Amino acid sequence: MDETKSIIRSYWDQRSSTFDLSPGHIASSKREEDAWKALLRERVGSSGKKVLDVGVGTGFLSIMLAEIGHNVVGVDLSEEMIKNARRKMDARGLKVKLEMGDAENLPFEDESFDAVVNRAVLWTLPNPKKALSEWKRVLKPNGTLCFFLHGSHSKGLFHRSKKQLTNFAVLAREKRNPWKSLYNSVDLPMGGGVDPTVVTNLLKKTGYVDIGLNPLVEIGEMKRERMPWYYRLSSEKSPQYCYYCLKPKR
Ligand SMILES: C[S@@+](CC[C@H](N)C(=O)[O-])C[C@H]1O[C@@H](n2cnc3c(N)ncnc32)[C@H](O)[C@@H]1O
Repeated sequence: MDETKSIIRSYWDQRSSTFDLSPGHIASSKREEDAWKALLRERVGSSGKKVLDVGVGTGFLSIMLAEIGHNVVGVDLSEEMIKNARRKMDARGLKVKLEMGDAENLPFEDESFDAVVNRAVLWTLPNPKKALSEWKRVLKPNGTLCFFLHGSHSKGLFHRSKKQLTNFAVLAREKRNPWKSLYNSVDLPMGGGVDPTVVTNLLKKTGYVDIGLNPLVEIGEMKRERMPWYYRLSSEKSPQYCYYCLKPKR
């Protein structure tokens, strides 16, 4: 593994124990969970698909997809993330195959999956273009790619000041250092969030078809309503997007 990937892996290994404490990372209510499941049913299918969750983390998408009735495989660079996901899945009695692997160089045969999904993963990769080609390689013809990603983060002084206050509160309450970030140590082309036109152009260039996107406005609102005040203070209005597209038919 190259140096950049080792840094990224150790960052996520360390982050794994507090990952689910951040309100953006888990469903804040049954209502929010139902909204995610409805979206996944719409984009991936109602059940029985072979789905790969790339950068599975603590299992947010995989758990819901398995509960809907899909046959899910999760892959992640971080062993600690996988251990956390395993614990949560075992507690729910869910059978999801989890393994270590690199999103940009997947340990699977060509055309193995009906769908590839992920949330909040492209931004943490050194080579997002390579990852998009790799996800296409493992998809069956006419298979679905569906992923979730934030738009560009606000860079204004006002927002940055509020973010500092949030960070102090996170340090005090969650006992973790939110200033310790991946951006300081490795070059991530999408590290500051990414504009939807950039993402859709990349999808086109990679050869995906029927490309679409939806801003997750309602889910964002459900999340904000339930966030602790110190997260709400600097929570951005720019939504997370759901991107979806197909690998062309043969
Ligand atoms: C922001 S977390 C998102 C986790 C999960 N998808 C979720 O939505 O809760 C990013 C995840 O991507 C994983 N990751 C980072 N680089 C990766 C790579 N090259 N290959 C596979 N997983 C990677 C991290 O270990 C981490 O679990």
